Amino acid sequence: MSVTYRDAVAGDAQALADFWRETFTATFGALYPVADLKRFIAESYVRAAVAGELADGENSHRLAVEGETIVGASKLGAFKLPHEADVAHPLELHRLYVVAAAKGTGVADALMAWTKTRARAQGAEALYLGVYQGNERAQRFYARHGFSIVGEYLFEVGETRDPEYIMRCALA
Ligand SMILES: CC(C)(COP(=O)(O)OP(=O)(O)OC[C@H]1O[C@@H](n2cnc3c(N)ncnc32)[C@H](O)[C@@H]1OP(=O)(O)O)[C@@H](O)C(=O)NCCC(=O)NCCS
Repeated sequence: MSVTYRDAVAGDAQALADFWRETFTATFGALYPVADLKRFIAESYVRAAVAGELADGENSHRLAVEGETIVGASKLGAFKLPHEADVAHPLELHRLYVVAAAKGTGVADALMAWTKTRARAQGAEALYLGVYQGNERAQRFYARHGFSIVGEYLFEVGETRDPEYIMRCALA
């Protein structure tokens, strides 16, 4: 793959919404009743929702692209997990997804490196994330990048409640 990296811009909203929806559905689609999946996608992975996240100044997005095609993306934003952070300035890695063809190629590593650099530049002392408890590949990836489990919670997808781990990485 010939992958380059850039910050997302407003004009990426539709393509990024499509990317989030397709990678989320490919990874987790089988976990949910169709109605729950549809409701979640309609709220989270549509152009208007992603355009709002690109514009609100609270989130930062980095894209991995091959030509015009998004093959990976990272979204960094405010700490919103139901967990008491132990630092004054936590941030949260809301999403880190790569397409199947980019798994194991280093694209996810590059996006993680950017995310940590960006979080540090914003003054964060720790980076948190939520990960599905059955997603062992992602947990191993995060552990390799210095994250450890500090809690758990239930993630809402429609009426479904998914058990997730909360993971934390110190940035100091
Ligand atoms: C999670 C993700 C970003 C990790 O990127 P990646 O390029 O796949 O990461 P790696 O290839 O380094 O794999 C991570 C670890 O999982 C291991 N692994 C590979 N396939 C695996 C599998 N089927 N089950 C469990 N572990 C697996 C790898 O050997 C590696 O372990 P190591 O770090 O101990 O060597 C990527 O897989 C992805 O986008 N997945 C789909 C979306 C997703 O789950 N995002 C995270 C949501 S919280």
